[in-house]
Amino acid sequence: MEANAPAKKRIFSGIQPSGELTLGSYMGAIKNWVSLQDEYNCLYCIVDMHAITVRQNPADLRRRSVNQLAQYIACGLDPAKNIMFIQSHVPQHAELSWVLGCYTQFGELSRMTQFKDKAAKHADNITAGLFTYPVLMAADILVYQADLVPVGQDQKQHVELCRDIAQRFNGVYGDTFTLPEPFIPKMGARVMSLGDPTSKMSKSDPDGCVYMMDKPEDIMCKFKRAVTDCDACVKFDKENKPGISNLLSIYCAATGKTVDEAEAAFAGQGYGIFKPAVAESVIELLRPIREEAERLTADKAYLESVYKDGAQKASYLAEKTLRKVYKKVGFVAR
Ligand code: TRP
Repeated sequence: MEANAPAKKRIFSGIQPSGELTLGSYMGAIKNWVSLQDEYNCLYCIVDMHAITVRQNPADLRRRSVNQLAQYIACGLDPAKNIMFIQSHVPQHAELSWVLGCYTQFGELSRMTQFKDKAAKHADNITAGLFTYPVLMAADILVYQADLVPVGQDQKQHVELCRDIAQRFNGVYGDTFTLPEPFIPKMGARVMSLGDPTSKMSKSDPDGCVYMMDKPEDIMCKFKRAVTDCDACVKFDKENKPGISNLLSIYCAATGKTVDEAEAAFAGQGYGIFKPAVAESVIELLRPIREEAERLTADKAYLESVYKDGAQKASYLAEKTLRKVYKKVGFVAR
């Protein structure tokens, strides 16, 4: 490295271990994270504290949190290049979250579309944690002074709120937080549900979703059942053919082909040929990831060493910010 090369920018992102990772998690997020790991200083988190904003089975949450780390690594995230850790292992997230909550308006949180959606879905359990979820997310980002936050379109509003909170705090106490920017991959495939191609593929919708750890025969079966239309022509047309367009995007992301190339390859062929071909492309894409994740999942000692090391490094960085913040708001030094 050159002596005075500019410092690498810092990236923070995370996924909730609230369900098994999906093809959408891979194509929409983790694949992109892998491409950033050489040029940026990245922290990739397993946000278990966010997961409990809706009720979780404790044994499942614990198993999925560790397996998610195995899957991050199997996708190509290198623990030597990135800080990978479990959110609840770094107490500074919760500590900063409390402070930031005192600089966030009730009205702002009420306007969050994800809160409104989840509150409607879990109408019998609308907790304070669900309401303040975006404050904890702001703490995740600000505690590391992250410059960039790779997220999907649906999380943009949360990153904007995070910026607003940071700006407000900086306005009162002087420069404290780096203002982060959402980093939305331009052509990062937004993978849609196989059952309802107008909504995003979600880990809580087992029918419309392919899990990263699904066996080849299950993947084949899910693609064969994917909702399409009845004109039997493989053409990208998001408006009128959302199902086929989604399958084309998946096929292109899996094979590296362009949409034109894919359309040409399937010209004159029906969906009976096209759907299994998409399934095959996904099976071959996921096969090495699944095999490596299975191998790593069995190696509990290795995974433990990775998340412990990650938490230690993360906590070192987070503590610097937290100390500054506590001092600014007027807490007595410990
Ligand atoms: N809210 C994000 C999601 O559901 C997960 C998340 C939590 C996150 N904290 C974060 C993403 C910080 C980016 C940065 O997808």
